[in-house]
Amino acid sequence: MTRESASEPSLSGLFVTFEGGEGAGKTTQIARLSQTLRERGHDVVATREPGGTPAADAIRALVLSGAVEASGPESEAILFAAARLDHIEIVIRPALKRGAVVLCDRFLDSTRVYQGMAPGADAEFLRIVEDAVLEDVRPSLTFILDLPAAIGLERARRRREDDAADRFEKETLDLHEARRQGFLQIARDEPSRCVVIDAARSEDEVAHAIASVVERHLPAPSAMRDAILP
Ligand code: TYD
Repeated sequence: MTRESASEPSLSGLFVTFEGGEGAGKTTQIARLSQTLRERGHDVVATREPGGTPAADAIRALVLSGAVEASGPESEAILFAAARLDHIEIVIRPALKRGAVVLCDRFLDSTRVYQGMAPGADAEFLRIVEDAVLEDVRPSLTFILDLPAAIGLERARRRREDDAADRFEKETLDLHEARRQGFLQIARDEPSRCVVIDAARSEDEVAHAIASVVERHLPAPSAMRDAILP
């Protein structure tokens, strides 16, 4: 994989990320928004982190197994960053370049919260890794799906039925609640990018709230663009 040169044309698509704690409903809401946008003629790419490419999926399995946990948040952040780099170059950047709407389940804010809030995490190190990986591929819109951690964890437990909790789901309620506050702090720090959505409401209400914000950020659908181009 090689990185694009800095002289490439600007990315004309819309990059939207979905963040929040466990069981906040990101996956369901991304599926609903994808369908709504596709019905209106938009080119939509729905993807997730860690994952989105074969290499990134392999890293996902490694990190979620907990095998890297003892190496510390910096090692985990490097692995998430390696997965992200592959995901950006293979999936996200090409989609944005052709004008697609990219909906991504977790992205940079998950690293800031999950690794950045780990005890003793080196904030400067994590910032350097973030900048090195992202370059110009940054979300223009981020939904923070906000929910009390106890409700989210219960939803996640029901969803996985008999499957074992992963490395992050096993952590204490206090830590999950602290992460919730971490996401809300990011939203306060970057109000032009982040929109907090009350995810304790019904699935329909959350879907309407998200769709009405996305509406204001959309590029022209490709079908409409084709109609006006010679
Ligand atoms: P996943 O099963 O996709 O969880 P969810 O459905 O809640 O999104 O597992 C991803 C886990 O990885 C989740 O607990 C958050 C964690 N994670 C990080 O710690 N750092 C990161 O940069 C990313 C993208 C995810």
